[in-house]
Amino acid sequence: MSPENHQHAPLHLADESDAAAALAEAESGQNRFDEIIAEDSRVEPRDWMPESYRKSLVRQVSQHAHSEIIGMQPEGNWISRAPSLKRKAILIAKVQDEAGHGLYLYSAAETLGRPREEMYDQLYSGKAKYSSIFNYPARTWADIGAIGWLVDGAAIVNQVPLCRASYGPYGRAMVRICKEESFHQRQGWEILYSLSHGTEAQHQMAQEAVNRFYGPALQMFGPPDGDSPNSQQSMAWKIKRFTNDELRQRFVDMLVPQVEALGLTLPDPELKWNEERGHYDFGDLDWDEFFAVIKGNGPLSRQRLEHYRKARDEGAWVREAATAYANRQSQDQAALIGA
Ligand SMILES: [Fe+2]
Ligand SMILES: [Fe+2]
Repeated sequence: MSPENHQHAPLHLADESDAAAALAEAESGQNRFDEIIAEDSRVEPRDWMPESYRKSLVRQVSQHAHSEIIGMQPEGNWISRAPSLKRKAILIAKVQDEAGHGLYLYSAAETLGRPREEMYDQLYSGKAKYSSIFNYPARTWADIGAIGWLVDGAAIVNQVPLCRASYGPYGRAMVRICKEESFHQRQGWEILYSLSHGTEAQHQMAQEAVNRFYGPALQMFGPPDGDSPNSQQSMAWKIKRFTNDELRQRFVDMLVPQVEALGLTLPDPELKWNEERGHYDFGDLDWDEFFAVIKGNGPLSRQRLEHYRKARDEGAWVREAATAYANRQSQDQAALIGA
C-alpha cells in the first residue's frame, strides 16, 4: 500500500477493513477454487484463482502458443519445394492450422490477463521459451513426413489429456487443436509410407528422417520426472493429468506398431517389449543436448528468432493499416448510431 493512503486517520481505518475484506474474499475464493479442482470442474476467467495458478498457466499457455508459431518455420520452408501440387496444398493447410493454434492459445492466455503484445514482445526479444524441437532443421522432404508423424504425434499424446485441463479456455482450445493435430499426424505418416515403399533411395531418406527426429520428439514431453519441478504442482491443479515419463512411455508404445506398418525402424537398440511392465523399454535420451537446445543453442535457434523478428517487422504496416481501418469502422458506426 502506498504511503499516501495513510494521510488521514479515517482512511487508515478504512484501509484496515478493506484489507480484512480482501482477505475474506481471498479465503472464500480459495475455498471455491479448491472445490472446483476437487470436483473436476472448470476454472473460468472471472473466477478467483491463486496467483501461482495464474502465473503457471500463463507460462505454459504462452510457451505453447510460441511453439505453434515458431513451429510453422521448419515446414513453411518446404511449401515451395513440396513434390506435387497436392502435397503443397496439404502442407499449406497444415502450416496454416499451426498459425490458428497459436492464435487460439494466445487468446486463451489473454483471458488470464496477459496482454498479447507483451507475449509477442517476449518472443521477439528472445526471452520466451518454446518447444526445443523446432530448432532442428527440416533437411529433406522426408523430414516433413517425420515431423508430421513424430512431432505432431507427440503433440497429440501430450495434448489429448490437456483437453481436460482445469482452466476452461485452455482445455477448450485444446479440443479443436487436437482434431487438427490428428490430421497432421496422418499426413506425416502418409508421406513416410509413400517414401518407405518407393525407391531404395526414398526408403533410405525416410529412415534417415525418422532417425533424426525420433530422439528430439521423445524429448518433447519434457525432462524426466525427477528433473521436472513444476510437474507435481501442475498435476495437483489438474492442468496436467500425466507425468512427462508416463506420456513418453505411452508415445513409444504407440510408435512401435506404427513404425512396423511403415516398414521402417526406430533408432534405438535398447527398444524391447517388457512383458512384466506391459510396456516397451527404451534407451536413455541425450538430455545434455536437450538442455543446450532449451538454452537457445539449438542448431537453428538463432535463425528461428531472426526469421520471426523479420516477419514481425515487415508485417508492422499491415497491423497498423488494419488497426486504422478498424478504428475508422467503429467511428463510422458510432456516427451512424449518433445520427
Ligand atoms: Fe499445432
Ligand atoms: Fe500440428
